[in-house]
Amino acid sequence: MKKCRNLLIILSSAFVFALFVSCGSGVEQPIQFPHKTHIDAGVECNICHQFYETQKNSGRPTTEVCSNCHFDEPMTSNPEEKRLIEEYIKKNKELPWKRVYHVPEHVYYPHFRHVMNAKIDCEFCHGDIKSQTMPLTKPLKKTKMYFCYNCHKERGISVDCITCHV
Ligand code: HEC
Ligand code: HEC
Ligand code: HEC
Ligand code: HEC
Ligand code: HEC
Repeated sequence: MKKCRNLLIILSSAFVFALFVSCGSGVEQPIQFPHKTHIDAGVECNICHQFYETQKNSGRPTTEVCSNCHFDEPMTSNPEEKRLIEEYIKKNKELPWKRVYHVPEHVYYPHFRHVMNAKIDCEFCHGDIKSQTMPLTKPLKKTKMYFCYNCHKERGISVDCITCHV
């Protein structure tokens, strides 16, 4: 009986540990890309996220987008910039950026309606991207149902289930 209880304790702490590890880690990005350096240098969001003005998605930068400014010689002494040039740009290899913000499959979220028509700032939903010196590993803000729903209600936008659920 006692043995069994000990086993149970060991098993359940292993489970809690696994849960802790999987919740805490988040995604890993191919290059240690700093938003802050680029925003401070005056690069606008739409240089790298090219679709939010007209489409559902914002899109993420391809290697070609980076290569407009990063080619032959690095501009900084940051080894990550050198790695970007040597390992991706010169080899013409695609950067496997991992997704951070998500809504489930059954939800329809259109960027252009919010950014262009409703003029809602990126930061309102994504948090303080401009001062990030490292790539995101997890969302800075959560976009759960009532975050969306409450704003629609306040602004007189439809809250019928089929507005957001497909
Ligand atoms: C009203 C909230 C809201 C606003 C405003 C908003 N976003 Fe998003 N964004 C989201 C949600 C929700 C997702 C996840 C969408 C999904 O899973 O399809 C997302 C996803 C993204 C992604 C992931 C990749 C992709 O192709 O969509 C990028 C990049 C992004 N947003 C950039 C921006 C930028 C840049 C702005 C401002 C110009 C912006 N967002 C404004 C809510 C918002
Ligand atoms: C419109 C031009 C432009 C584009 C496009 C661009 N960068 Fe940069 N990047 C810069 C400038 C300018 C600097 C250097 C700023 C400075 O001198 O501190 C820089 C610096 C960097 C650095 C070093 C940062 C630091 O603070 O040390 C990295 C890493 C980097 N870029 C990665 C990328 C990646 C990855 C992409 C594509 C997703 C990209 N850049 C796209 C202009 C650009
Ligand atoms: C020079 C290119 C560049 C510029 C300019 C830029 N981004 Fe990004 N953005 C990236 C890259 C590369 C990633 C993926 C790595 C990361 O998360 O840092 C990314 C990721 C994101 C994501 C998370 C996407 C996801 O997968 O969920 C959001 C949100 C975002 N950027 C918003 C913005 C906003 C808002 C601005 C303007 C204030 C901006 N970005 C300007 C290159 C850029
Ligand atoms: C801060 C307020 C705000 C937030 C947060 C917000 N929305 Fe919206 N949403 C609006 C406004 C305003 C419009 C109307 C835009 C227009 O005029 O095209 C809109 C329009 C829409 C539409 C098009 C509606 C139609 O009638 O065709 C969809 C779909 C939508 N939002 C889904 C979402 C989802 C999903 C989220 C959360 C991930 C979200 N919204 C978060 C304010 C918001
Ligand atoms: C303004 C947009 C919006 C409207 C309107 C809306 N939903 Fe949602 N709903 C969402 C988003 C976004 C999520 C995903 C949240 C997340 O990331 O877990 C969601 C998730 C859900 C889920 C899954 C629950 C979960 O936690 O995963 C159910 C069930 C649901 N909604 C039912 C409804 C019903 C029923 C209605 C109508 C009364 C409705 N929704 C109206 C945006 C909306």
